[in-house]
Amino acid sequence: AGNEQPSNVVVLPTPVEKAPSKHITILYASQTGNAGGLAKKYGEQLKKAGFEVNVSSMSDFKTNALKKLDHLLVIASTHGEGEPPDNAISFHSYLYGKRAPKLDHVKFAVLSLGDSSYEFFCKTGIDFDEQLEKLGAQRLVNRVDCDLDYDEPAAKWFESVKEKLQDGEVSQQTIQESAPTVLEASVEYTRKNPFNAEILEKINLNAVGSNKETIHLELSLENSGITFEPGDSLAIYPTNNKGLVNTLISTLGFDAEKSVNVEDKEVTLKDALTNLLEITVLSKPVMQKIGEFTLNEEFHALLADRDSFKAYTHGRDLVDVVEKFAPFSWNEQSFVNVLRKLPARQYSISSSLAAYPEEVHVTIGAVRYEVDGRERLGVCSTDVADNLEIGDSVRVYVQKNPNFKLPADDAPIIMVGPGTGVAPFRSFIQEREERGAEGKSWLFFGDQHFVTDFLYQTEWQGWLKSGVLTKLDVAFSRDKEEKVYVQHKMQKHAAELFQWLEQGATFYVCGDKNHMAADVHNTLLHIIAEQGNKTEEQAKEYLDDLRKQKRYQRDVY
Ligand code: 2AM
Repeated sequence: AGNEQPSNVVVLPTPVEKAPSKHITILYASQTGNAGGLAKKYGEQLKKAGFEVNVSSMSDFKTNALKKLDHLLVIASTHGEGEPPDNAISFHSYLYGKRAPKLDHVKFAVLSLGDSSYEFFCKTGIDFDEQLEKLGAQRLVNRVDCDLDYDEPAAKWFESVKEKLQDGEVSQQTIQESAPTVLEASVEYTRKNPFNAEILEKINLNAVGSNKETIHLELSLENSGITFEPGDSLAIYPTNNKGLVNTLISTLGFDAEKSVNVEDKEVTLKDALTNLLEITVLSKPVMQKIGEFTLNEEFHALLADRDSFKAYTHGRDLVDVVEKFAPFSWNEQSFVNVLRKLPARQYSISSSLAAYPEEVHVTIGAVRYEVDGRERLGVCSTDVADNLEIGDSVRVYVQKNPNFKLPADDAPIIMVGPGTGVAPFRSFIQEREERGAEGKSWLFFGDQHFVTDFLYQTEWQGWLKSGVLTKLDVAFSRDKEEKVYVQHKMQKHAAELFQWLEQGATFYVCGDKNHMAADVHNTLLHIIAEQGNKTEEQAKEYLDDLRKQKRYQRDVY
């Protein structure tokens, strides 16, 4: 009492009824920070509306608090093949486990984020929604599953949640007016409002004779005010390949100059297919919509069978579909209505602002492969590799990654990053060099050939010499008869690696998810069991514990 009221709070006469009594817990399962960002934003809005709100990452949430919960909002993103994000793994398995409590006293709502080009679209959100209901909790509003362009559906979900929460609530004691508008000169660059960044440098890191083409790109952030931390990603908006767009339009028999409406803008068909819409990914929702324009039995058989759907759509694009299953009953406008917006592609940032102020570097592997005798091109990677030059601009924004962050300066770090997976570790080491960090660091790098594929070789060797990098182990897989991979090098140094873990090291993995990261994970378990004299079960617990302490972090794709 007696405290000064902030000037933007209006005190109303105390109503007879009591103030809002609902406690709201918002838990997020987030890999790249989108779900976490929404959770915090909605938390703030609910606080402003007078509720008591607690926003927490699932990994920081103490499960015994479930007993006292009354309202639970879950915002969950899904990664890859339907697994929960790393910060949600233990809460997810807790709810599905034998020790999961009854939740009859809880009212809940789930918002899921995902990418419809993956088979198990929004699976983590779906899991939480179903399991909370099974445990007896009551749904406030139906779950909403959002695709990459999530702002609008998410906002609608939140509005309906808020309405439900306010139902039956008495008027609030204090009404907080919206904060005074601060006139700021700076613009915020986001997914909806990307920054036009000039290309300052573009280098193919692989030497002549390599099977690979890895582009080192340096972009200017001058005057943008954009900041990022080591571990964050850069999202780049690509344009579709001109040749592919032309082939698609002629295969469809459409008029390239025909005007179509996309997101309330009138553009030519060619412009829409080049700059605005995705034409290379055959996701389930897109294929289902296409199904409304054909009676082709073979097409509908594909839709009905999971395995043949996967086998057919993998690596194919819209040109294949139009060629194989024509005729369709669409026109220019109904065709573009089927397609989703062309999303930006994300790349782990490979520089540090401390080392390169007002710049951002990325390391992009060009994706090219052949299906049915036609060369296929990764949309963004080959746009960068083939079409963009120094002096050109690309539209970008920073995607924060709170789950891939350096520890305190003096803690040891172990980094496993074969191929382009090495990118964030260049950023880590640059940052540590600039800060004069004391901690030990150890890099495991791998690629096909020493002579052509040792990405950033001279930089690593320089850092090794200066001591910023303590240890470097490399695995070139195609220089000898036998394959040598990063996990073989880990195993070779098992004793020392375990010692580093025991000394408090954080273990990082970046790169290929399905093969490399899975093998590295198993090798790590093996090393922990072997070196720590543990059973398989105990080794798993040890690694779970590392994850909970944020000492096992992954940026895998
Ligand atoms: P490969 O191409 O000879 O199979 C970066 O792409 C490096 O990762 C390459 O040397 C590649 O080897 C290697 N790699 C491929 N599969 C891997 C796996 N399961 N575990 C670790 N490295 C792997």
